[in-house]
Amino acid sequence: SQAHLTVDRAFTVADVPHRLFGSFVEHMGRCVYTGIFEPGHPQADQRGFRQDVMKLVKELGPTVVRYPGGNFVSGYLWEDGVGPVEDRPVRIDGAWHSIETNAFGLHEFVEWAREAEVEVMEAVNLGTRGVEEARALVEYANHPGGTYWSDLRRKNGAATGTIEEPFDIRLWCLGNELDGPWQIGHKTADEYGRLAQETAKAMRLVDPDLELVAVGSSNRQMPTFGSWEHTVLSHTYAEVDYISMHAYYQEHDGDAASFLAEAVDMDAFIDGVVSTIDAVKAAGKHTKQVDISFDEWNVWYQRGLETEDQPHQVAKGWQKHPRLIEDSYNVTDAVVVGTLMHSLLRHGDRVRIANQAQLVNVIAPILSEEGGPAWRQSIFWPFARIAAMARGQILRLAVDADQVSTQKFGDVDVVDAAATWDEATGRLSLFVANRGMEESNDLTLDLHGLEATGISSAEVLAIPEERDRRAANVLDDQDAVGLRPLREVGLEDGALRVTLPPMSWAVVQLE
Ligand code: AHR
Repeated sequence: SQAHLTVDRAFTVADVPHRLFGSFVEHMGRCVYTGIFEPGHPQADQRGFRQDVMKLVKELGPTVVRYPGGNFVSGYLWEDGVGPVEDRPVRIDGAWHSIETNAFGLHEFVEWAREAEVEVMEAVNLGTRGVEEARALVEYANHPGGTYWSDLRRKNGAATGTIEEPFDIRLWCLGNELDGPWQIGHKTADEYGRLAQETAKAMRLVDPDLELVAVGSSNRQMPTFGSWEHTVLSHTYAEVDYISMHAYYQEHDGDAASFLAEAVDMDAFIDGVVSTIDAVKAAGKHTKQVDISFDEWNVWYQRGLETEDQPHQVAKGWQKHPRLIEDSYNVTDAVVVGTLMHSLLRHGDRVRIANQAQLVNVIAPILSEEGGPAWRQSIFWPFARIAAMARGQILRLAVDADQVSTQKFGDVDVVDAAATWDEATGRLSLFVANRGMEESNDLTLDLHGLEATGISSAEVLAIPEERDRRAANVLDDQDAVGLRPLREVGLEDGALRVTLPPMSWAVVQLE
């Protein structure tokens, strides 16, 4: 197949949002316990932070990490996770039917985030709690000292050998998925909208310099999608900076063609939320702009286990850190993850924050075994490369491509792409997927006056030799799927020419 793309330095979408390459650590399954934190592991430091996992996190390159949930946060008492570890209560986590020891809490996470060089995005519980606990948490986290909660932070920091100074957390989620019947403390849009509005106000009275995210729909299929955003924003528009989006994609019944085109769904989902935000803005005669925090997205094989009350797999019996939703990702999944990131980039003017869910073990780019190794899943690669190479301005791409037919979306472009250009370094990065499952794609990128003198790197993730599209990185074969040099690439007469293998994701950087 063929594709012709055109960029022009005059046509840009936005600056690349630094927070677009976020991740998510929930107290769920083995994301915290035996994921980022495992005291006694041979690679753990004196604080219990697994350094093998830390190394992979740094290589992955997330910029911001949402914490501590997720469904978990809607039943969580943040005070349980601070103070001397031996005094912390062991609790039931109703969201994931697990035992929470609270051995890891806010101080540990802030310390971990500093070492990982990521910004903390903290969620407050608006399921079982409300205004009082949220404003107490802001005081605990950000107030310098001399008040009840801030002095408690200093005392707890000293007692546990962790951070005593203000955590300086700027970005806060006002709850999680409260539109979902499965959520502890599920609410109507009016109930949630008012609660979020008052919570936002009270949090800002403690620290005026916060960025706040209101809860949007849990997914595009929710019966309340659209009206939920409209009602919630009608209450909160003046108080919040972002509304959240969540989306998980999976291959259904072997229909890889539709699965490979799910970025079409993500594009439309984002456009729909932007329209709703702007309708509320216009009707309310607001001048400020609310943007989107796409704070959960990924491939997740939910395998039809969901019911309306409980769409998520929960543990059998009461266990500490059970194995939950530890999806193994293959080549197809990695290509799809690449395209989902392209969609986020294409909407970088309005999607200013995005978090892949989650970071380790739980639907994650990194897997780790208790007492054992940690390694990269296939989906690690598009994330790592886009996080490292998308810089400067997002370019608007004109795409003229052959079509592939899909059951779910009809005919779609055979390639899916995004591009960025950094004036400071003169580097142009092209991220592109070939959705064609059988044919390679001959792609041309017309640079329209963007001067490039050479190709600084070109890599591709494709089906490994003698394997099929289901190849994945597993415990005893940790590097089956990865990037290899892309050789079929050339730059001539102001155009880049690339041949993409079937079902592949590639990154080319020009200088
Ligand atoms: O990421 C897993 C779960 O998916 C989160 O806890 C929840 O917010 C979402 O439904």
